Amino acid sequence: MDCEKLIFESREKYGETFSLYVFGQILTIVGKETTHEVLRKDQDFSFREGIKIQIPLHLIFKPATIPEKNDKIVKEHIAGKLKQLISRLQKNIIKAIDLHIGECVEPKIIHVRDPSKTFSEIIAIPIANIIVGEECYNNKEILEAFTDVSLSIIKMLFIPPVLSFIHPWLHQQLVTLPLRFGWNPFSKHKKAIIKHIKPVIKKRLYDKKRLGDAWVAPLDALQCYLDDPEITPDLDPNNVNYDYIASAIGRFIFSTMGTTNLGLTHALYDLAEKKQYRQELYQEAQEINKQYNGNELTSDDIARMVKLDSFVKESLRFSNGPIVGLLHKCISKSYYAFANGYQVPSGRIVYLNFVDTNNNEELQGQNPTEFDAYRHLKRNSSATKLERNFLVFGGGKHACPGRSFVINEIKMFLHKVMLKYDVRTDTEEIGPKRRYLGPFPAPLNVALVFENRKETVN
Ligand code: HEM
Repeated sequence: MDCEKLIFESREKYGETFSLYVFGQILTIVGKETTHEVLRKDQDFSFREGIKIQIPLHLIFKPATIPEKNDKIVKEHIAGKLKQLISRLQKNIIKAIDLHIGECVEPKIIHVRDPSKTFSEIIAIPIANIIVGEECYNNKEILEAFTDVSLSIIKMLFIPPVLSFIHPWLHQQLVTLPLRFGWNPFSKHKKAIIKHIKPVIKKRLYDKKRLGDAWVAPLDALQCYLDDPEITPDLDPNNVNYDYIASAIGRFIFSTMGTTNLGLTHALYDLAEKKQYRQELYQEAQEINKQYNGNELTSDDIARMVKLDSFVKESLRFSNGPIVGLLHKCISKSYYAFANGYQVPSGRIVYLNFVDTNNNEELQGQNPTEFDAYRHLKRNSSATKLERNFLVFGGGKHACPGRSFVINEIKMFLHKVMLKYDVRTDTEEIGPKRRYLGPFPAPLNVALVFENRKETVN
């Protein structure tokens, strides 16, 4: 019932690496000295194999069972082309803010319950634009898929693993039973995605055939699937593997929406609640706003928001992370021997002890258990930088490929919000102590008050 206490006390009693018997299985928890061994040894530990045990993504998004394809798309065509995408990102963030927050002449209250519906609807717009493209991202059913998919899948996790006491395999069977009998939380959205991307694909293939080299390919994930001969062998729309594309888009939604929503909601809440930083961050926003003079923000402008960058990184480190997380499965042949001498057998689930890293003064600097917005600025460590003290994006070869995209997105969103609104929580009290539900941060349940800023930006 009190995961924080359990992990803390076990760490004290057994040391940096220890195993716990939880719901019928032995789990190994590794601390700050060993987390990076797990993240880096990708021949011995796999996050994808680990997550499969919690969420059967391979069944939900079948036939899109090659996650490396999405990885490559993000690395090469989203993070890799961020400079070209910034203008669209900005246009859609402004559009989403206007639509879902709007003019707040009178104070407007938005309830924030995780996952926050309003913020999910806000981020769905820029993310859908980059994934399915300009032609159909605005469609109501497409946006619904972006806001609903992660939540409907995460609900599957709430089946208590009681059967695991007999054997974890039995719980796995129970969780995957509906999927094996044809029920899938993604089916409804998959149909809608296929319905709306089909005419877009037909037109793109037709235009490419007609115009040849003169055709300019759109920049989005959908086009990457159309450029992949395993999915789209030729320019005939009848030969396109629509089933694969829709499932791959579903997996994309799952990797991006829940995580971004959580990160953005916590950062906005931190901004509203930690009043001591508001003025300084607003000043930075104003200065940058003066430089781009109301024109479009560029990647360089966003890079100059160094205080905001550090604030977002601290929010991700402090408010967003679990107690233990990023489970990896040991995939060594028979066992893996850690540098500290402990061994785990093949098949063992290994969790990273986030709190051990987060609460360590050597790694985090002074007062590691307190929110210090400029902690990372003092160390000149940007929010996308992967270091031993920051586990939110994973690490090593498989670290989140979307991190530069999401950091730019959250910073741009907060920048626009700060310039337009005064945001506060609906109570003047200092926010609650970090609370957890199992190992996860407890859902926020607060109201944010948005009011148009009174002073003009000079
Ligand atoms: C605050 C938001 C986000 C967080 C905290 C986050 C975190 C992570 C983490 C921890 C991993 C696993 C890394 C590992 O294996 O060691 C991951 C994987 C991944 N992330 Fe992110 N991520 C975020 C947003 C995004 C966004 C916006 C995109 C796309 C633009 C993205 C794309 C991916 C992809 C494609 C993978 C591989 C997933 C797979 O195996 O299917 N992420 N992310």
